[in-house]
Amino acid sequence: MQLRQLPVLLSLPVAILSFVVFPEAEVFQAHAEDLSLALTLPVTKYVEFIEAVSPDQSIQITRLSPTHVRAAEDVEDSDDQPLPVVIWHGLGDSADNKGLKEVAELIDETHPGTYTYIISAVGSAGSADRQASFFGNVTEQLDYVCHALAEDNILKTAPAIDAIGFSQGGQFMRGYVERCGGWAPKVRSLITFGSQHNGIAEFQKCKSSTDWVCQGANALLKSSTVWSDFVQSRLVPAQYYRDTGDYENYLNHSNFLADINNERKVKNATYAKNIAALEKFVMVVFDKDRTVIPKESGWFAEVNLTSDSVTPLKDRPIYKEDWIGLRKLDEKGGLDFLSLAGEHMHFSEKDLKALFGRYFGPAGRKFEGPVGEEEWKLEL
Ligand SMILES: *[C@@H]1O[C@H](CO)[C@@H](O)[C@H](O)[C@H]1NC(C)=O
Ligand SMILES: *[C@@H]1O[C@H](CO)[C@@H](O)[C@H](O)[C@H]1NC(C)=O
Ligand SMILES: *[C@@H]1O[C@H](CO)[C@@H](O)[C@H](O)[C@H]1NC(C)=O
Ligand SMILES: *[C@@H]1O[C@H](CO)[C@@H](O)[C@H](O)[C@H]1NC(C)=O
Repeated sequence: MQLRQLPVLLSLPVAILSFVVFPEAEVFQAHAEDLSLALTLPVTKYVEFIEAVSPDQSIQITRLSPTHVRAAEDVEDSDDQPLPVVIWHGLGDSADNKGLKEVAELIDETHPGTYTYIISAVGSAGSADRQASFFGNVTEQLDYVCHALAEDNILKTAPAIDAIGFSQGGQFMRGYVERCGGWAPKVRSLITFGSQHNGIAEFQKCKSSTDWVCQGANALLKSSTVWSDFVQSRLVPAQYYRDTGDYENYLNHSNFLADINNERKVKNATYAKNIAALEKFVMVVFDKDRTVIPKESGWFAEVNLTSDSVTPLKDRPIYKEDWIGLRKLDEKGGLDFLSLAGEHMHFSEKDLKALFGRYFGPAGRKFEGPVGEEEWKLEL
């Protein structure tokens, strides 16, 4: 972008500015607050800001503050050293969110000395990371994440890592296991919270009419078909949209989910091998989730929204024919279906600590078998 355009831009209202600066649909990205902030910056800083939120910026990994980090020497050769934990956040969130740091602190309280690593977007503003949760090609984002984790000094030397995926971060973390499990840091326990493993049938509504990033995403969707390459390569939720009433188009065009769920005729055996190599895959569903439609997607169930009937994972071909290794994992006691009471992403510290205690910790630890119904609600 050229400097001399700035005086004109600076005189425009924020909403229009976002169009002018980012003429393409995918870049409604900057949050109004961030743009207002940008307007107060000196010109050079402003250009840096714009570059930071530019769409070609690939997503990057940031790690938590040093209080959570142990020196690499301490990590090696220690039997009771907890495995590092990697966290992938959800749609509309960013890695500098206070809530994610609190989660990391809870992990550290449960297993002191745990190295936590939050997957985030690059840039001086948190908005770049938030933008990447709405816009981008998930395959490319995932590829970047695989390399970034593989290059981290602590993760790459740890015997394995544990992982958390919140909401859409859950299916992306699973994609990480499937696609990069053979060469990037190997995941032991994966916990997903309110994720969309079997896709969504509806898009999330924006929480506010001035949330330009979210409104921009929805505008992009309305302006063209969800199955166009244009949308599939740019709009993140479109890449896990799954319409059973339009299944052929989904199979033909889904940029992400149809592939990692091995739903197409040609299956990738590596995906199944990598999921089966997990020790624990824990799928947590929120019983009153009204954000994820249908919420049962978090347990890989299929819901017919017309008849309201639910087909559980174990009655579906993806499990019976073991397309992605879930059956094999289940047969060795590694697949847990849990539910928490409440709305999407409403959890208590107590629940989180119980989960971290149960599934994370030192490399050599033993795990209990599948959870019993008396302990966690299990029925669909
Ligand atoms: C299967 O997935 C792996 C990991 O992403 C990839 O390296 C390989 O090329 C894929 N195989 C096929 C046949 O697509
Ligand atoms: C997304 O990126 C991958 C890797 O660059 C590419 O192969 C694929 O075609 C892209 N998807 C779309 C819909 O353009
Ligand atoms: C999906 O792709 C197949 C093979 O290219 C084609 O025959 C079929 O018509 C496509 N389906 C739709 C709904 O576009
Ligand atoms: C969903 O249920 C309706 C009503 O029972 C049925 O007509 C329809 O074929 C079902 N859809 C799918 C994809 O199975």
